[in-house]
Amino acid sequence: MSSFLQSIEAKRDGDALADEDILAFVQGVIADDASARIPDYQAAAFLMAVYFRGLNDRERRTLTLAMRDSGETLVFPPDPERPVVDKHSTGGIGDKVSLPLAPLLACLGFRVPMISGRGLGITGGTLDKLESIPGFTTRLDRDRILRQVDRLGVAMAGQTDQMVPADRRLYALRDVTGTVPSPDLITASILSKKLAEGLDALVLDVKFGSGAFMKERDQARELAIHLCNLANACGVRTRALLTDMDTPLGRAAGNWLEIRETVECLSGAGPDDLRELVLSGAAHLLVLTHRESSMDSAVSTAARCLDSGAPLARWNDLLAAQGADLAQYATLLCRDPLAPAIGEVHAPTAGYVARCDARILGEVIRDLGGGRTTQDSVILPWVGIDRIRKLGERVEANEPLCRVHAMDRAGLDATLNRVVEAFRVVKDPPSPPPRIIEVIGN
Ligand code: URA
Repeated sequence: MSSFLQSIEAKRDGDALADEDILAFVQGVIADDASARIPDYQAAAFLMAVYFRGLNDRERRTLTLAMRDSGETLVFPPDPERPVVDKHSTGGIGDKVSLPLAPLLACLGFRVPMISGRGLGITGGTLDKLESIPGFTTRLDRDRILRQVDRLGVAMAGQTDQMVPADRRLYALRDVTGTVPSPDLITASILSKKLAEGLDALVLDVKFGSGAFMKERDQARELAIHLCNLANACGVRTRALLTDMDTPLGRAAGNWLEIRETVECLSGAGPDDLRELVLSGAAHLLVLTHRESSMDSAVSTAARCLDSGAPLARWNDLLAAQGADLAQYATLLCRDPLAPAIGEVHAPTAGYVARCDARILGEVIRDLGGGRTTQDSVILPWVGIDRIRKLGERVEANEPLCRVHAMDRAGLDATLNRVVEAFRVVKDPPSPPPRIIEVIGN
């Protein structure tokens, strides 16, 4: 086995690493003992080398499984009536699909032990969104996840020092070292968490476009194939949806604003594209677990369940189970806006929305305090952008295109011009692309 410095140099020079060197890297990432622990500067250098040089299939698999095994894993009692399933996204702007989907899946009879991440780069993170709910904790240990999933059908937690600790540390480092958009690191990060959950089936949302880590469809396709191949080889029936992320998902982006939109979706309302992805995620899992034989009937089953109100009630049970202060939460839901400085961006002319750039809006939200630029950044839950007009919608001159939520007037003034740049209004109605472009896998 080589020293870790030699592993960095080997990867920098494009060599393949031996399995034992990858295992040593993961052990060094999670070591408690300072003398055995790989310091951040070396771990970051290694991540950057992987970013540029990539991993082959064997290295990627070894890294993924070593990260999965860096902590405890979940083992559920077999129950063919209640398959264990999950969904994960590669990340986007306004992508809150996991939030309404998890309680919907629980109401469809699945067990959902969802281990998620924080915001990465300009993309929002499920944990940061959930933590904008007063009192809600995402720090659950293995026994609590197992008990809660048995009782409620769903738990939503983060990586801890006990569960996928290697991803916990690497995820935070990648976020602030420009090493997120590596298909190999994304595969290892996502699947280490998902394979630790003891799943029967998994649906992945692999995004591409300006607000995604994969800018081009072909890159996203390759990532989806890596993810599906490895997950299926590890015994988890997996499909990936390739979805468009040139424009934000839904009409709201920002941690608390997305909780609000989640509640709308769970109430049978909310934006169509969000509802479409939620129903589609549920339907693919119904088909993958052979509980429905066609996507059409699966989508109808999921829609009936969503519209029954049961998933909204289950969401409230989930919040209560994970410590949310329900009285304060209810008060916050009735107050809008919560951020102290609010501004609108207006259409320069009458016409149709032809562009709403997810990257620009994501950068603005991060800079307003909705995301991190260093590991110590404090997330400001109320900031974000909502009432976003969607592609193809008709707007009149001076009508609002969106509303920006900031913590002070200076922050707001610094961003409004950037938000204007995200939009284009044209004379003739454009034809917006479909949200789901392709389905890969099983
Ligand atoms: N989601 C993850 O969990 N990890 C990544 O690297 C990207 C998205």
